[in-house]
Amino acid sequence: MRNCDEAPSRLPRFILGLVKNNRSLLFGLATGLLLSGCYAFVDDETPPEWKDPAGTQQDVAAIAAGSGGPGASVYNAKCAVCHQMTGKGIPNVYPPLAGSQLTADDPALSIRIVLHGFNGPIERNGAKYNGVMQPWKNDLSDQEIADVLTFVRSSWGNTATAVTPEQVKEQREKTKGKVGAYTEEELKSSL
Ligand code: HEC
Repeated sequence: MRNCDEAPSRLPRFILGLVKNNRSLLFGLATGLLLSGCYAFVDDETPPEWKDPAGTQQDVAAIAAGSGGPGASVYNAKCAVCHQMTGKGIPNVYPPLAGSQLTADDPALSIRIVLHGFNGPIERNGAKYNGVMQPWKNDLSDQEIADVLTFVRSSWGNTATAVTPEQVKEQREKTKGKVGAYTEEELKSSL
């Protein structure tokens, strides 16, 4: 019977002891609960859906996924920083390759640009550019230039023919003595 009398007073004392001896444990538990509550709250919010105003999401996804042929990865690594994944460039800074007439014309023109670079004033879609594009002749093989130009000429709505490594080789040989980057005038009169 003695035990029964003592029991009610023992339980509160036990809890008090727990609290006293395990303050940090309880504090940790409370913080943990709070944090997991916060996390669940953040988690509940659905991220805003990204909308591509130009509708080029598919092209971007294709490049990111590494599809679109070997030229896509060359483009991604060497050209997209300026001409952008969308091929639209940056108005007045880097000209677009999407819808570029020069790119669609005789492939020898864009092969020469990529081999030797391009500079001086040009005007595209009413925007003026006066930048410098570096030569790629020492960085990219005939195959890589063919691949990247094939990609450019068939992406973002462009529908020009594929470029072969033989065509690049031919232009490399024909323009061996070329010094510096082409200007638009020089390029067009060079063919
Ligand atoms: C550092 C930025 C930069 C990079 C990287 C770059 N370009 Fe350019 N590109 C330019 C600029 C600037 C011009 C225009 C030069 C001028 O004002 O005359 C240009 C022009 C061109 C043009 C002519 C377009 C037209 O309609 O006249 C083509 C084609 C082109 N680039 C292809 C490429 C390809 C292919 C690559 C990747 C191998 C590449 N570019 C990488 C800056 C760049």
